[in-house]
Amino acid sequence: MKRLLTTILLLAVVGTIVAKDYTLSTPNTTIVLSAEKGKQLFFRYYGAKADVSDIHATGRMLKYDAYPAFGTRCDAPYASLVKQHDGDNATKFVVDKVEQIEGNPISTLSVWLRDVAHPNLVVKVNYSAYNDCDIVKMNTEYFNEGKKPVVLQKYMSAVLPIQSDNCVLLHLDGNVKNEFNENVIPLPNGVHTISTQTSTRISQYQNASFMIGLDGRLDETACPVIAATLVWMGNSHFEFYNTSMARVSTLFMGGINPAASDYTLAGGKSLATPEMVFTYATNGKGEATRSLHRWARKHQLLDGTKQREILLNSWEGVHFDISETSMVDMTRDFAQLGGEMFVVDDGWFGNKYPRNNATTSLGDWEIAPSKLPNGIRPLINLAHSNGMKFGIWIEPEMVNTKSELYEKHPDWVLRHPDFEPTFGRGKTQLLLDLTNPKVQDHVFSIVDNLLTEYPDIYYIKWDNNMSMHNAQSQYLPKALQSNLSVDFTLALEKILKRIRAKYPHVVIQLCASGGSRLNYGFMPYFQEMWTSDQTDAYHRVLIQWGAMNFFPSNMLAAHVGSAYSKYTQRLIPIKYRFDVASMCRLGMEMVPSKLNDAEKEYAKRAIAEYKIIRPVVQQGDLYRLVSPYEGKRDFTSLMYVTEAKDRAVLFAYRHLFKHEMSNIVIRLQGLNPDAKYTIREVAPEVEGKPVAINGKTISGKFLMEEGIVIPELVKGFTRNAPLGEVRTGNDFRSVVLELTEVK
Ligand code: DGJ
Repeated sequence: MKRLLTTILLLAVVGTIVAKDYTLSTPNTTIVLSAEKGKQLFFRYYGAKADVSDIHATGRMLKYDAYPAFGTRCDAPYASLVKQHDGDNATKFVVDKVEQIEGNPISTLSVWLRDVAHPNLVVKVNYSAYNDCDIVKMNTEYFNEGKKPVVLQKYMSAVLPIQSDNCVLLHLDGNVKNEFNENVIPLPNGVHTISTQTSTRISQYQNASFMIGLDGRLDETACPVIAATLVWMGNSHFEFYNTSMARVSTLFMGGINPAASDYTLAGGKSLATPEMVFTYATNGKGEATRSLHRWARKHQLLDGTKQREILLNSWEGVHFDISETSMVDMTRDFAQLGGEMFVVDDGWFGNKYPRNNATTSLGDWEIAPSKLPNGIRPLINLAHSNGMKFGIWIEPEMVNTKSELYEKHPDWVLRHPDFEPTFGRGKTQLLLDLTNPKVQDHVFSIVDNLLTEYPDIYYIKWDNNMSMHNAQSQYLPKALQSNLSVDFTLALEKILKRIRAKYPHVVIQLCASGGSRLNYGFMPYFQEMWTSDQTDAYHRVLIQWGAMNFFPSNMLAAHVGSAYSKYTQRLIPIKYRFDVASMCRLGMEMVPSKLNDAEKEYAKRAIAEYKIIRPVVQQGDLYRLVSPYEGKRDFTSLMYVTEAKDRAVLFAYRHLFKHEMSNIVIRLQGLNPDAKYTIREVAPEVEGKPVAINGKTISGKFLMEEGIVIPELVKGFTRNAPLGEVRTGNDFRSVVLELTEVK
C-alpha cells in the first residue's frame, strides 16, 4: 500500500482565528471552506481550479453549513445525529480548531467542531487534496471526550453542496452474475438514496460510487462532472437532496449506512468514518474516470502499477470435482497455451467432510485426502516446472454447519441465540463472527498456515458467498448489537492489516459471488477483484463497461469461459471471448483440453498477443468511444492510451448482427494529434489475414477528428468462418487494434 507519508510542512495551527477562507487545490480543482473560532464551519466551493477572488466575484461562492447536525436547523438535512447519555439528541457544532498541512502529494485541512451544549462531543472534519491527480477526500472523526457513552445515530463522512439544480446521476446496480449495470437518470426531485445493507457482499445490489453531470447532461468529453466513491468495506448510504429543503440547489451526503447501526461510542473513544473520494472534471465523465483510475493505480490499489499474470482458474472447468488428474491436466494444457499461473478453486479441502458441494466443509482448511491424496505440493511443483505460478481458493470468513470447525465452535457464528439462523449457500453456510478476537486469529491463521506450509503459493483467491443475513453477534453484549455492522468491518480490516504486515505482496484476489465486493476500501489489501461469475462474453461487456466507470482495468479479473454459457445459454466464438477478457486482466476459466485444435491455436496466439499489449491495457488511460448502453447498442468500443501517448490499444465489438447494418464511425481519443500511428491488428481470427486497416499509418489528429470505420465488423461472413465447431452466425465479432507512434 502506498500510504503517502512525505515531507509535511505544518502551515498553521490556529488557536484564535478570524473568519478565513481555507483553500486546497489539486492540479485542476479547488475546494474552499471558511472557518472562524466559535462559529459554524462553512463549505464554500468545489470546482475548477480558481482564485478565491474569482469565485467570490462570480457568485459561485456558497455559504453552506459544512457539516450540518440535527439540532440547529431540524427541518433541513443533517449529516450528524448523536444521542447523549442523558437522551438529548440536539447538537450545535462550532469551530474549535483548524489545522492546515501542506504536504507532497497530499495537503490536508482539518477542522475540529465542538458541540456547544455537550462539549464532550467533538467531530474532526477532514479534507485532503492531491497535487499529482485531481482527487480530494473527505471524512470525519467522532470523539467522545466525556466519561459516559454517546450513541452515534447518523455519522456521515462527507457533505457536498452542489450549485446545480439540473443534475444527471450515473450509478451502478445489479446482482450476482449481472453486476454493475450502468444507470443514468436525471436526479429526481426530492430525496434520492443509494444504500447497501448486506455488510459483506456490499456491492451486490448497489455500488458505493456515483457520477453527477452538472449541466443537465453527462457526456464523455464535454460537461462538468463530479465522480465519487466511498472507501469502505461495509454498508454505505448516499443521500442526494434535490429540493429546496436543502437550501442549496443540490446537496449530497454520504458515508456509513446508519440503518440499524446506532453506534455506541464509549467515553474516551473515537470513531473515524470512511473516506469519500471525489474528483471533478470540466471535460466530461471520461476524464473523471481517468482521474479515479490514475489515483487508484498510484495511491490506493495494492501493487497498482505492477503487471498482472494470465491465469487459468479451475472453477468453471470442473467446479467441485477437484482431483489430482484433472488439476495436472489443466496445468499442463494451460502451460502449452502460454499461461502464467494455475489456480485451484473451491473443492480441494475437508478431511472429515470432503468438500464435494456447497453444503459442507467451509472452515476445515485441510487438503481433502480423497481428492488430492498427494496434497498440493506436486501441483505447485508441476506449475513451477512448467514455468507457471500457483494459486489457491479459500473462503475464510465462513463455516458450514457440517464441518469440524462448527462442531468445535458453534459459538463463533453470527446468529441470534433464540431462533434458527437464516442459512446461506448450501443451506448450511454461516458467517463467522469477526468481532470475536478468537475468530480473528482463526481467519488470520487460515492464510498464515497455508503460506507457512507452502511459501511458494503466489496467489490466493479470497471468496465470500454470504451476506450478513444474521446481524447478531454471540460475542458482543446485547447493548452493543447495533455496533455489529461497523465493528465487523473494522475487524475485517484489522485481519487484513495483520495479513498484509506479514505477507505484503502475496497476490490476493477478492471475490464475493463474483463482483459483490468491488469497493475502493479493499484496494490496499487486494491486488485484484473478480468482476463477475458471468462469463458470457457479451454480458461481460456490459458488466466490465459498468465497473470501469470507477475501477481500473488491471484490478478487474476477466476470464475466457467456454463457448457455451450455462448462465445465458448463448454460444460465443473464441475470438470475441478473448477480446472481451483482454480489455481487463486476462485469464481463462474452462478445461483447456475441451477446446478444438483451431481454438487452441487461437488461444495460444491471443495469450501471446495479450502479453504484448498488456502494459497498455493494464496501465494505460481508458477512453470510452462507443457505449454498449447508448444508441443502437449493437457496438461497443473503447481504447487505452499510454501516458506518453506513444502506444494505444483499441477494442471494437459488434454484438448482434443485423442485415444491412450501417457502418459505425469510431472517433479515437487521447492520442497525440501531431503524431502519426501505425495500426496493427492484434490476434486476428486467422493468422496472416488481418483487417484492411492493418499496417496503415494515420495521423492522431485524423483518428480523433474523423475516426475509423472497420467494415469487417458489419459485413457478416465476408471474413473468415468462425473458429472450429462454434457456429454463432454473424453475431459477436470483434477487432483489436494496436497503435504505435511512428518516431
Ligand atoms: C463464487 C465465486 O464467484 C466463483 O468464482 C467460485 O469461486 C465459487 N464461489 C466457488 O464456490
